[in-house]
Amino acid sequence: RPTLRVGVLGAGTVGTQVIRLLLEQADDFAARSGARLEITGVAVRDLAAPRDPAVPRELLTDDATAVATGNDLVIELIGGIEPARSLILAALSAGASVITGNKALIAAHGPELYAAAAAAGSDFYYEAAVAGAIPVVYALRESMAGDRVTSVLGIVNGTTNYILDEMSTKGLSFEAALATAQELGYAEADPTADVDGLDAAAKAAILASLAFHTRVGIDDVQVEGIRDVTAEDIREARASGCEIKLLAIAQRREDDHASGISVRVHPALVPVEHPLASVHGAFNAVLIEAEAAGPLMFYGQGAGGAPTASAVLSDVVAAASHRVDGGQAPRESFYADLPVLGPEAA
Ligand code: HSE
Repeated sequence: RPTLRVGVLGAGTVGTQVIRLLLEQADDFAARSGARLEITGVAVRDLAAPRDPAVPRELLTDDATAVATGNDLVIELIGGIEPARSLILAALSAGASVITGNKALIAAHGPELYAAAAAAGSDFYYEAAVAGAIPVVYALRESMAGDRVTSVLGIVNGTTNYILDEMSTKGLSFEAALATAQELGYAEADPTADVDGLDAAAKAAILASLAFHTRVGIDDVQVEGIRDVTAEDIREARASGCEIKLLAIAQRREDDHASGISVRVHPALVPVEHPLASVHGAFNAVLIEAEAAGPLMFYGQGAGGAPTASAVLSDVVAAASHRVDGGQAPRESFYADLPVLGPEAA
């Protein structure tokens, strides 16, 4: 079997689990992908920071550019816009296949990254960017390729779902629930991205782009987070047979009033009998409606190291197999030019 060189950018919650699984299950990965996957370097900001023993110290380096440009597969798990964007562009121009879980980057710079991947003829995969372990990027990009999606409705932020759920079921305060979500590794490095709905908005933009074959950026999404949801709001909701959930909603509208798509994230009253009402903890769920298929429901762990690593590694196997056997990641098919409707039409 050939050996493929793998570089990892970032060794946080998800990166640590990706490295652990790649090392522990090396034989399985070789069998599944057709190549031995050798981690040659793990780029981190602080070489002296305490690390999980799953990450061998001898792999650590602070030379992220060398990791980005010296490998066959590059896994970007730093998060944020820079330096992640420049490193991914450098990796693609150096001929690497790139796998990322970086939703903020894709929601802000997706078109630039897809174009760079196409120009380099390289795979660019981002299953882990939306809803952790749930294969919803694959579902929209590939499984739904033969259908016309009309709406995507989901709980796509584990941290806020965890907080609302703890407030609802255990009567915990917002602050106490957020602190536990951080300890459990669900929250972003800066949890305001979760709490204020921006993490969910980035995912909504990615889902809407894939669902409607059009380019939706984070600035197109109307966002309201959960900061203003009080314990009293939750009690009142429950008294009227509802749960409060932070929903991401992307819909195609073609009626007398508006034509285009609306994409938004906001807390919503969900009747307890609705399947999204019983999504607890840091779980996520995505309900896709399509003209021919009707409704499809996806459910699973939307945050956390190992679940998100599972999504990263599915992309790693796909990209590695392509390098061994030929083939390419599906090209982005953004052919529709649908207006994104403002709040008045939504
Ligand atoms: N902070 C994110 C969440 C992690 O809570 O859902 C997964 O993207």
